[in-house]
Amino acid sequence: MQYAVEGMHVITVEGIGNARDGLHPVQERLSKAHGSQCGFCTPGFVMSMYSLLRNTRGSPTELQIEECLAGNLCRCTGYRPILDAFKGFAQPSATSYTRETIRSDGGLECANGHIKEAKGESGAMENGKLEASGVQICPTTGQPCSCTKPGPLCATSVKNGVEEGLMSSKEPIFPVELRKHVPASLALPGTTSTWHRPVTMPELLGLKAQHPSAKLVGGNTEVGIEMKFKHADYPVLIAVTHVPELKKMEVEDDGVRVGASCTLTQIYQLLSGLADEIPKYKLSAFEAICGQLRWFAGHQIRNVATLGGNIVTGSPISDLNPVLIASGAVFSIAAESSVDRKVPARAFFLGYRKVDLKPSEVLVDIFIPFTRRQEYVREFKQAHRREDDIAIVTAGMRVWLSDDFVVKEAGISYGGVAAKTVTASKVEQALVGCLWGKEAMKMALDAVKEEVCVPVGAPGGMAEFRNSLAASFLFKFFMRVSYDLEADSPAFKHTFGQDCQSAVEEFDRPPSCGTQYFAEPTSEFDIVGKPERHRSADVQVSGEAQYTDDIPVSGCLHAALVTSSKPHALIVSVDPSDALLVPGVHGYFDHKHVPGNNMWGPILHDEELFATEIVTCVGQVIGVIVGETQAIAQRAARLVSVEYDELPAILSIADAIEAESFFPSYRGQIDCGDVDKAFLDCDHEISGEFECGGQEHFYLEPQTCVVLPQENEELLMYASTQALYHHAETVAETLGIPINKVVCKTKRIGGGFGGKETRSEFLNAVTAVAAWSLRKPVRLCLDRDEDMKITGQRHAFIAKYRVGFNKDGRIIAVDLKCYSNAGNSLDLSPPIMDRCLSHSDCTYRIPNMRARGFLCKMNIPSNTAFRGFGGPQGMLFADMWLDRVALSLGKRPEEIREVNMYCEGELTHFGQPLESCQIRSCWEEVLSRSDYEMRKAKVQEFNSNSRFKKRGIAVTTTKFGIAFTLYLMNQAGALVHVYTDGSVLVTHGGVEMGQGLHTKMCQVAAQALGVPFETVHISETSTDKVANASPSAASQSSDLYGGAVMDACKQIADRLAPYRSQSPDAPFVEIVKKAYADRVDLSAHGFFITPDVTGWGGKRPFNYFCYGAACSEVELDVLTGDWHILRTDIVMDVGNPLNPAIDIGQVEGGFVQGMGWLCLEELVWGDKANAWVRPGHLQTCGPGTYKIPTANDIPIDFRVSLLRNAANPRAVHSSKAVGEPPFYLSASAFFALKDACYSARRAAGLEGWFDLKAPATPERLRLACGRTDVESLKEEL
Ligand SMILES: Cc1cc2nc3c(=O)[nH]c(=O)nc-3n(C[C@H](O)[C@H](O)[C@H](O)COP(=O)(O)OP(=O)(O)OC[C@H]3O[C@@H](n4cnc5c(N)ncnc54)[C@H](O)[C@@H]3O)c2cc1C
Ligand code: FES
Repeated sequence: MQYAVEGMHVITVEGIGNARDGLHPVQERLSKAHGSQCGFCTPGFVMSMYSLLRNTRGSPTELQIEECLAGNLCRCTGYRPILDAFKGFAQPSATSYTRETIRSDGGLECANGHIKEAKGESGAMENGKLEASGVQICPTTGQPCSCTKPGPLCATSVKNGVEEGLMSSKEPIFPVELRKHVPASLALPGTTSTWHRPVTMPELLGLKAQHPSAKLVGGNTEVGIEMKFKHADYPVLIAVTHVPELKKMEVEDDGVRVGASCTLTQIYQLLSGLADEIPKYKLSAFEAICGQLRWFAGHQIRNVATLGGNIVTGSPISDLNPVLIASGAVFSIAAESSVDRKVPARAFFLGYRKVDLKPSEVLVDIFIPFTRRQEYVREFKQAHRREDDIAIVTAGMRVWLSDDFVVKEAGISYGGVAAKTVTASKVEQALVGCLWGKEAMKMALDAVKEEVCVPVGAPGGMAEFRNSLAASFLFKFFMRVSYDLEADSPAFKHTFGQDCQSAVEEFDRPPSCGTQYFAEPTSEFDIVGKPERHRSADVQVSGEAQYTDDIPVSGCLHAALVTSSKPHALIVSVDPSDALLVPGVHGYFDHKHVPGNNMWGPILHDEELFATEIVTCVGQVIGVIVGETQAIAQRAARLVSVEYDELPAILSIADAIEAESFFPSYRGQIDCGDVDKAFLDCDHEISGEFECGGQEHFYLEPQTCVVLPQENEELLMYASTQALYHHAETVAETLGIPINKVVCKTKRIGGGFGGKETRSEFLNAVTAVAAWSLRKPVRLCLDRDEDMKITGQRHAFIAKYRVGFNKDGRIIAVDLKCYSNAGNSLDLSPPIMDRCLSHSDCTYRIPNMRARGFLCKMNIPSNTAFRGFGGPQGMLFADMWLDRVALSLGKRPEEIREVNMYCEGELTHFGQPLESCQIRSCWEEVLSRSDYEMRKAKVQEFNSNSRFKKRGIAVTTTKFGIAFTLYLMNQAGALVHVYTDGSVLVTHGGVEMGQGLHTKMCQVAAQALGVPFETVHISETSTDKVANASPSAASQSSDLYGGAVMDACKQIADRLAPYRSQSPDAPFVEIVKKAYADRVDLSAHGFFITPDVTGWGGKRPFNYFCYGAACSEVELDVLTGDWHILRTDIVMDVGNPLNPAIDIGQVEGGFVQGMGWLCLEELVWGDKANAWVRPGHLQTCGPGTYKIPTANDIPIDFRVSLLRNAANPRAVHSSKAVGEPPFYLSASAFFALKDACYSARRAAGLEGWFDLKAPATPERLRLACGRTDVESLKEEL
């Protein structure tokens, strides 16, 4: 990496601004717009935006900004505030210069998206002082601006190479010495490889002749992955980035020649810029390449990845190779000792990642010919996620037609259907000589069926889907060419109906927008209720925020885990001797080194910390290697040899049910009414089975801890965890020392979502064993793939149901059995199942219900807490059967929802009355805000005119119970110190993980003490400040710690009261000083218990419930399963919000994360259904294969309202919890997709209900739409 950037000016996020001296406008806008929650992703977003601004002449468009940010992932925010923040830099428009524009409905819209309510409604907040009314804002700096010629002029005044208007005055300037830098040849030896960087062609060819096995490196996006994740060893690396012949881009008489080392961005810029110079008909191949590049990775990858790298990798799912083959591209190849040769693209790909290139050869350039009149090239790609994802199937197709529309030439190529990019020569032959028309296409479809046939069980799976995509792409090609031909040649007339146009339309997504509605506090003295910014926002946007792995510890060693590679096996032997020989290794530690208890577990101690004799899942920890660096430790850990004797493994829920492999200690059940009798009395009955997948937490900061042995057998630990106290407890027990010797601290964590509640404990404990043994500090930081493989996920479920109902749609009885994939240990599976069962009523009153839960004991890593904690799964099952009830009665799902929806005071199926039940208020408001009826009619109208794109709309609800269901956990402590300068330091037991807890607690403390918000500070969470704290989980932290902070503040305020009454107008500091002089204690410990709750099994397991409703509208491509959300409206009940901006962030973030669970994120485990994956291994173990939502997946129009007049008497300042409750609102997107499928199915002659598993991936959606086979497509012609 250091070698690759030689001669370059590297600017990091710290280099553009900081919290003390001033933030860069990019940082400042993000901070003020609430665009940073946990902050771990934030520097990446800042630098993407910064580089866009620096590389854009004038100001970028909103679309450019969205495209630029789509390569950055955020798991917290739901992206909307980030996009809003940066759109302040977008190209000027009449409305973006001043911050306020009058909305047509009479409301006031601010540029950050917040809406001031229309007259007559309660007020709303606008946010950020930059946005003073009427102030002119520079579109590029986002700052108030006096320039009367805003936009490009303001942005392009250039001085010393820096665009003045574009950047702040402290903008880093490109160093003068680097301007004069002339790259020279380099040969830099490293510890494992030597890096050569030739700068001439003879030098490059000479090096390759000298080192035939040397690895050439272009952008390193493929080689880097091979070295990091596949542990490839390349002793000689040769950079091909500085050889002029490989960098040239030339327009020749009959086409374009691009050097193999040109980056994809450069190629895009060249090809897309030719339209002004060259007749359009010649550019068809280039348009296809640009079309493919639009969805090729993210812009960070495109900026460095080279075309040569993509070609030579020879990946069967390369996006560009099929288009190059179809276009008739030709590759020039050179070697020192032979004459240059030219190879047509269609002959270059020989096998799986095997290309026609000898060891001494180099790919020099690529020639892509112009297209001729009536020659058309088109590109196709379907991935799991549109943005930044590798293809499932990809294709390039070309046809050249004579004047009388006879096919003269055809080029058809596919990726993703075989071990290499293939040319469909039979399809080509079928087309050549045919008159362009339906008959030709029918023959081509027959040929594709014969030629492209992915067998069931092929690597990558999805055989039926991939085969159907191959045919669909050909079908779309035919449609697209026919429409274009008609436009180009008046003599040609296609005969398709108006509704077929939808097969031709390409995916087009306008920039998204968001609006948020919330009420503002009524009194100016209120601090609680204001949309204060996240307390750490400024240090997060500037990269100064410290996470666990950033904590400098002198002499710190690094740990790497030795884990099981078998799902179920006896350990025959473990031999670390090779590992111990690696220089820099300090030792190997396993169960023999545990001084205390090797068993652990949050509920039952049923897990071994280090496996002793048997392993029960892939990824189970067997030992730990400690080395001087992480790389040394990881390399050595791979050398530890473990011999196994394999045992039969249970790898799916279905297997576990069949084998009755359940955790016997758990018996979860809810019984209400007389279910058997009720079934006899109801009009109708349905029964069946549903399935929903799990979900990876994908917190951006991986699991990390540092353990520092101290004097006197004390231990200091920094851990990225939501449960500091339980970590200290587990480590103490492991080491056999009292808890008072272990201090666990954290300042913040980079996201947790439940995944760092218990599954970080064993990581901390095994690191502690190593540190304890060595008496040295040891750090463990998991790689992303390791983290995903071993630390557990959201539980997947199968539910078996029987539902009885009357003809009016009223539910009479439900009999439900839920099976979850608990994994190889109990962990938190019992309370997660309890919550699933307790939420399996969703928002519907079910008078007779029997719900049973079974925890499947399986040979996969133990699954664990994840936002919602089983509740979303339970609610999903209710909505799934409700959908079926509606269909079977011929009614709309919303009718059935409304008929069964809870009313005030009704009892849940576990007997708790719903007090202040807001569900109907949320429901009615969302129906009205979303114009549901009108839009439903429009959707129907759209669908009747569109055969191949269908829209769907759905409105769903949520109800979420707030409390820990374990009684004793509903307690909290806080410690408040007031210092003599009037400043306040608060410490409480909760962990800041992006949810804004510390910000809210500062607001609560400031209000309670009557001091300015800015004077209250929270530094960290630590077990020696607040003991015995419950985990920050169950959405409970604001309620619990808010109560504890208020209690402590009240004690201090009471002590100060006499001084206040003596001098009512005196500043706080004077009152404090007087009290101090009188020796008044200015510190207090606060304590809070949730009143009245009983824990699960009692009469009042939940303190209260949160409610919400959402409406989503989607559009689905029937031929490919591609989809996007057009609009989502949410109404969420958060009581009187402590901080509406933070709460909206939770609602939006929760919705988008939930949408990921239900519509995108598919975990693929090696089991019977995925026989191509090693048994028990997680195939989707990184961002390359596991797709969380990006900024381009969020609703194009995203509207969030916080329900007004919904004060909650049961929590601090009448607020409500907000972390988990909005998560399930994402079901509206899932059921909208299902609604779109129903339309497609009806058009295909498929009536009635159908089952759609979650997540609704493109594969499942496409298959659900029916008519996937070639015969059906032929009928469409
Ligand atoms: C996050 C991410 C997303 C991606 N998304 C996509 C995607 O959407 N679609 C897709 O098709 N691919 C994708 N890829 C794969 C990869 O980025 C591309 O294949 C890329 O074009 C490789 O180019 P590179 O310059 O980085 O190759 P490198 O990693 O530098 O090299 C790749 C291979 O090419 C060889 N090579 C490079 N130059 C030459 C040369 N001149 N002569 C001979 N051999 C040479 C190298 O030796 C190596 O074997 C993605 C990769 C990542 C990491
Ligand atoms: S704020 Fe983006 S990952 Fe947390």
